[in-house]
Amino acid sequence: MCGIVAYNGSIAAQEPILHGLERLEYRGYDSAGVAIQKDGKLQVERAKGRLHALVERLSDGPMEGTVGIGHTRWATHGEPNVANAHPQVSNDGNFALVHNGIIENFQTLKNALISEGYSFQSDTDTEVAVNLIQKYYDGNLKEAVARATGDIRGTYAFAALSAHEPDTLVVARMDSPLILGVSEDGVFAASDVAALLDYTKKVIYLEDGDLVTIGAQGYTIENQGEVVEREVVDVPWDATQATKEGYDHFMIKEIHEQPKALRDSLIRKVSGGTVDLSDSSYTREEILAFDRIYMSACGTAFHAAEVGKRALEDALGREVQAEVASELRYYMPFITEKSLVIVISQSGETGDTLAVVKEAQKRGAQVLAVTNVVGSSIDRASDKVIHCDAGPEISVASTKAYSTQLLSLFLLALDFGEKVGRYSPEEVRARVKELSEIPDTIEKMLEKTIPEVDAIAEKISKKDSIFYLGRGLDYLSAKEGALKLKEISYIHANALPSGELKHGTIALIEEGLPVVTIITQSELVEKSISNVKEVKARGAHTIVLTNDEAPEVDSVADDKILIPKTSDLYAPLISVLPQQLLAYKTSVLLGNDVDKPRNLAKSVTVE
Ligand code: AGP
Ligand code: GLU
Repeated sequence: MCGIVAYNGSIAAQEPILHGLERLEYRGYDSAGVAIQKDGKLQVERAKGRLHALVERLSDGPMEGTVGIGHTRWATHGEPNVANAHPQVSNDGNFALVHNGIIENFQTLKNALISEGYSFQSDTDTEVAVNLIQKYYDGNLKEAVARATGDIRGTYAFAALSAHEPDTLVVARMDSPLILGVSEDGVFAASDVAALLDYTKKVIYLEDGDLVTIGAQGYTIENQGEVVEREVVDVPWDATQATKEGYDHFMIKEIHEQPKALRDSLIRKVSGGTVDLSDSSYTREEILAFDRIYMSACGTAFHAAEVGKRALEDALGREVQAEVASELRYYMPFITEKSLVIVISQSGETGDTLAVVKEAQKRGAQVLAVTNVVGSSIDRASDKVIHCDAGPEISVASTKAYSTQLLSLFLLALDFGEKVGRYSPEEVRARVKELSEIPDTIEKMLEKTIPEVDAIAEKISKKDSIFYLGRGLDYLSAKEGALKLKEISYIHANALPSGELKHGTIALIEEGLPVVTIITQSELVEKSISNVKEVKARGAHTIVLTNDEAPEVDSVADDKILIPKTSDLYAPLISVLPQQLLAYKTSVLLGNDVDKPRNLAKSVTVE
């Protein structure tokens, strides 16, 4: 994910581009850049870090010119540094391109360009696209972009400039957001309306396959070679609303982004219907040679690790350990130069998790990181890395990062399982297919679930304590649900394995106490229903989150949320959603600062 702003009009381009990028920083903030046309020359400036670093570089004197493109990046290919920042420039210096998305076949295209004599200054997939535009340029920038996109498989929103055509801006869209903004002063293109609201509220939502030529005289939209008309819509938002794309908080926006985040994550890790982790994974021989496998992380990422452990155990038929990083860093007597340590961290900066990486490496172990932030400390320190591709997560409460961590670990397990011969290629394909359908399933479920959850949140928000129960993977999912609720609602929430209840905690069950029970594991449905009965008999308010339509559930649940069925192993990907929504709504009802809960920071770099 990243933010794009482009402009062609009558006023100086730099100011609206930088202003728009500032509004889009939530989409990416690891580096930024602009390119502006002036007298047939492309002026390009880029900087690592947040947008203000770029603004500082431009502070000596603004770039002149009225046609330009800008970008605030969230790296997918290559770490955040100046060379990888956008705009990317072609070999001959005559073309500049900003890009939001992922070019799946970039390596093949890159190899072909190299054999034709092109050289590359960055690790990005985008640099391949800008050189394809150079290669295909034959006096018409739009045609060159069209031909380049014809070679590309993947997702993109592109905005391109050429020194050969000083008055032209070309933009194109495929599965990454891109809109046009129309004003008296010219035409804008941007990743979302937030970037444009101070300049215009008249926008056009581009469609996949649209290719737009923006000239001094206006714009022309083509799709598959035909000129098309698209409706100009008046946006009813004001500028403040739009920074969160109309959502009240980043958390709810990020909850809704989960289908997209999972799709983006799948694009990078699945190819031809099967798992392809390339050199982010290990060979069969390496996997078989590991004496021990550990998984480690903190908080929500640890909950993903615990589910991942089950997936890997199933795939490998051997024990895998999961230990919180703050403990493992000080006690790893059994980790050797033959061990594999898998760490999970959204931010890639968590101090305890980074310490595990370093301690494990001191012992000679291999470290594989699953992280969302390219170029983060854990990304750079680890031997191998799987990127989550969730896009920036701003809210302190982690949601879409957790889902993509689970997905990444499920795919890693499939990869390992096939390599060691425990899963057949057909089985892996079938499971990949099931995982690939989950984004759509979640999208549909979100709409249905929100009102159901809201009604339950009304009741919970009046309580000061709540229990979460589950068996097997449902217990692991319940732990994540309880953490989410406590960190943003400040209500005491305790998750425990359902079977443990009778060993003490049941003494706390009293009239009206809410108890959330997750029931998705086919072998454990009856046993779980018995636990719900136990607490109901003692007056608890029973809330059941299940994918089982058994009538017995209805008879014990005061409130029930029915979720779609998946295979048992993948159920946590689904059951977490209503729990995220429940925490969110409860926090809103209590008037808390949802995105920045008290005492918490997004990434905990200290001990
Ligand atoms: C999740 O909602 C929390 N804010 C927290 O538990 C978080 O998951 C933990 O601090 C780990 O962060 P990381 O994934 O960036 O390493
Ligand atoms: N794939 C491009 C890069 O790595 C664009 C990333 C994005 O969309 O954020 O630079």
